Amino acid sequence: MSHLIAPSILAADFANLERDCKMVNESKADWFHLDVMDGVFVPNISFGMPVIGAIQKHATKPLDVHLMIVNPDQYIETFAKLGANVLTVHYEACNHLHRTLQSIEAHGMSRGVAINPHTPTHLLADIIHEIDLVCVMSVNPGFGGQKFIEHTYRKVEALRKLIDQAGAQTLIEIDGGVGSGNAKKLVEAGADVLVAGSSVFGAKDPVQTIAELKA
Ligand code: DX5
Ligand code: ZN
Repeated sequence: MSHLIAPSILAADFANLERDCKMVNESKADWFHLDVMDGVFVPNISFGMPVIGAIQKHATKPLDVHLMIVNPDQYIETFAKLGANVLTVHYEACNHLHRTLQSIEAHGMSRGVAINPHTPTHLLADIIHEIDLVCVMSVNPGFGGQKFIEHTYRKVEALRKLIDQAGAQTLIEIDGGVGSGNAKKLVEAGADVLVAGSSVFGAKDPVQTIAELKA
């Protein structure tokens, strides 16, 4: 499988969401990456249900919803109804991750788990079979446009090994500071999905930038 590109709408023009959704639809991008922040789990508030509902009306590609919130369990049904295809919760926000993932699956969505830069990949060893996607945070979650943390390559390699040794099908997604300077190296290290916010929406030609990240 060739790697997937998921432009992060956090970096889009919120006053022109329909236009930016159409750009992603017409590009070589594979998914929409939607960052939900609650101001508690992370020191920032982004957007929530009404905005995702609006995006869903225009998006023709899968919605990859990244929850940076405490107590994600109480909103699983809501995000399923809003059309999320992948629902990612943070490892650090879940006391009963196994139960949370069961609930995401029961609601018909792919199960994503995000890990902060300080969270080691080996903590996922006993649950990797139940995870469809691991989102490796390559910045501290909460803001777009931050500098990529170089240690991420080592984490991707370790996670690749863990997944392969377990015989699991889990995808590895990289989120934060991804652009043309590190995309190739990340894919070589074992990444399957690249999230890109500011490198796409800050570019002169976002469609061309997406095509470059895809190639
Ligand atoms: C950060 C978010 C990212 C963010 C990435 O907390 O999870 O998805 O939008 O933005 P860039 O690509 O600008 O680092
Ligand atoms: Zn994200």
